[in-house]
Amino acid sequence: MKKSRITVLVGAIALGITTTAFASPASVALAHAVQKGAHIFNTDSFGSHERNIHGQHTTCSTCHIDGGRVMGRLPNGKRIPSLVNAAAIFPRYNPKMHKVITLETQIRACVHNGLLGHPPAYGSQTMADLVSYLGSLAHGQRVMIGGKPR
Ligand code: HEC
Repeated sequence: MKKSRITVLVGAIALGITTTAFASPASVALAHAVQKGAHIFNTDSFGSHERNIHGQHTTCSTCHIDGGRVMGRLPNGKRIPSLVNAAAIFPRYNPKMHKVITLETQIRACVHNGLLGHPPAYGSQTMADLVSYLGSLAHGQRVMIGGKPR
């Protein structure tokens, strides 16, 4: 390898390390929201007293298995789609509600009807964290409003 090429290579590596070490406040905040969203998804029961057959509190991950990365399962055994592209296919028409709903409305419906808990308010930090987490799952997925869950 020529000396100039080595210099470029070393420079590129140094730049990479610098970018990682000095991540912008915006990306740090977003990463933090995603992390908090994942934690809420896996641990928060939203004030519900429901428990699963193993006596554990109900959380989003009770139905949306492995943080929503794989096909989910309802307590009655019915399979439901994963959440890997959920953030990319809302807004969607919801046949049961007879209207177009946003991702936030879907989350609130799941907390109300699935968890039997108190849904996070629109515009709340909890809602922003959950939406950030679901957005991170769908990162790179094709945006297609009204699309099919995978
Ligand atoms: C008791 C089971 C249950 C729990 C708990 C639950 N959900 Fe759901 N969730 C469902 C069902 C059922 C659907 C609809 C799946 C279908 O038939 O399309 C759904 C759909 C969704 C969708 C839309 C997926 C898509 O692409 O259409 C999102 C997003 C979602 N849930 C997020 C959450 C979040 C976030 C939580 C926790 C706050 C949660 N859910 C808790 C049962 C549940």
